[in-house]
Amino acid sequence: MATGKTFYIETFGCQMNAHDSEKVIGTLEQQGYAQVQVEEDADLLLYNTCSIRDKAEQKVFNRLNDYKKLHKLGKRFAVIGCVAQQEGEKIFERAPYVSLVAGSASYRKLPEMLARLEAGETRITGLDDRQTDLTFETEFTSRQNPYRGYITIIEGCDKFCAYCVVPYTRGKERSRGSDSVLEEARRIVDLGYTEIQLLGQNVNSFRDPQGKRSFAELLAALGEIPGIRRVRFTTSHPRDFTRDIVEVIDAVPTLCDHVHLPVQSGSSRILRMMAREYTREWYLERISWIKAAKRNIALTTDIIVGFPGETPNDFEQTVDLLNEVQYDAVFGFKYSPRPNTPALVMIDSISDVEKSTRLQVLLDRQREIQRVNYDKHLGEIMEVMVEGTNPGRGQITGRSSQNKPVNFTWGGPIAPAPGSYHRVRVTKTFPNSLVGEAV
Ligand code: SAH
Ligand code: SF4
Ligand code: F3S
Repeated sequence: MATGKTFYIETFGCQMNAHDSEKVIGTLEQQGYAQVQVEEDADLLLYNTCSIRDKAEQKVFNRLNDYKKLHKLGKRFAVIGCVAQQEGEKIFERAPYVSLVAGSASYRKLPEMLARLEAGETRITGLDDRQTDLTFETEFTSRQNPYRGYITIIEGCDKFCAYCVVPYTRGKERSRGSDSVLEEARRIVDLGYTEIQLLGQNVNSFRDPQGKRSFAELLAALGEIPGIRRVRFTTSHPRDFTRDIVEVIDAVPTLCDHVHLPVQSGSSRILRMMAREYTREWYLERISWIKAAKRNIALTTDIIVGFPGETPNDFEQTVDLLNEVQYDAVFGFKYSPRPNTPALVMIDSISDVEKSTRLQVLLDRQREIQRVNYDKHLGEIMEVMVEGTNPGRGQITGRSSQNKPVNFTWGGPIAPAPGSYHRVRVTKTFPNSLVGEAV
């Protein structure tokens, strides 16, 4: 058994995982552990894993293999997150030096699991059976992001899209009470954060268990907290996207003018096979609400190419949808068969080469759309929140309210701090970023 109480944690995957790690770190610190930055210095090594695409589990085992030799020095290994939940006890078979395997829906029990680990137990599991109604809230959250305060408002997913592991890795959908969300927001404002980002696999599927506030009403209440300057939320699901979300963005200036609304495909036939429960037309109606807003709301999306049975015509409809919506960013992925998912029985009929070709066509088209979209900002003066510096180029890096990256030059001798806001005039545009100067 390890003698000291230091830990190293590495995080893969989405922002929810990043924020879970902040809560896990807080919980560990509360239990007397100190975080270290290199594997060799740690008594406990944690890997917070993702299994959304590709050979995710293989990557985790490779990573574990790289550090297996450290086990001989008395170090303990924990695999947490989505691969942990997906693979469960199989992890102990393939990597016997792992002592703890826990999915996110069991993190509430972390203090108890750590105590068992310290008592010398091995093969400790925290696996979810999609039964829990509990969320993982912790006042010990150790925020690692210096300028953006994450708040999870809904965990899990009940939508079971045909290709997706999330319902199996994150448990059933459960929302936090809106009072508790507001309380956490006020707490982080007191810590100095002015930007908060609400998180959920489907953030707008939020249903207040207290029955007090709708998602849009929660957004309004958060946006009106004194000291808050930016409220972001991700990811929105088209199925639960209601008109009042657009109305509240129009009404409350602190709500960022950006909606991430994954469409996955522009073909209603493929959407049906994906079990997305909406059609192209239904999706485009939501887009038309957003476009009719008084504010210029940036739109971004996720797309899967090469879903089983996707014909050239289906794919063409997706490219056509990009032309129609004119997104500000598109995250495109090649379909990847995942364990346990219904799509696994559909024949993954499209070759990897063809998937790559489709992805490239999609991204090339989108680049042209973005070139035009970003170019419209030339000469505009916008508020930018600083995220860091790019010393090589002597630039400050930050983001606009629309979430567009802005790199700007700064006249003064001391670079502005992350989290500070500045007015920037856009002097040059690229398809993925804006360049400007502080005014
Ligand atoms: N809840 C969100 C998406 C979360 S997963 C929604 O429903 O919109 C993030 C993105 O990963 C998805 O939008 C999808 O584009 C991609 N993705 C999920 N499973 C995938 C798979 N099996 N293969 C390729 N991409 C996938
Ligand atoms: Fe996955 Fe679909 Fe749930 Fe999104 S809504 S997390 S894609 S199952
Ligand atoms: Fe990955 Fe799990 Fe997030 S599979 S994308 S870490 S919900």
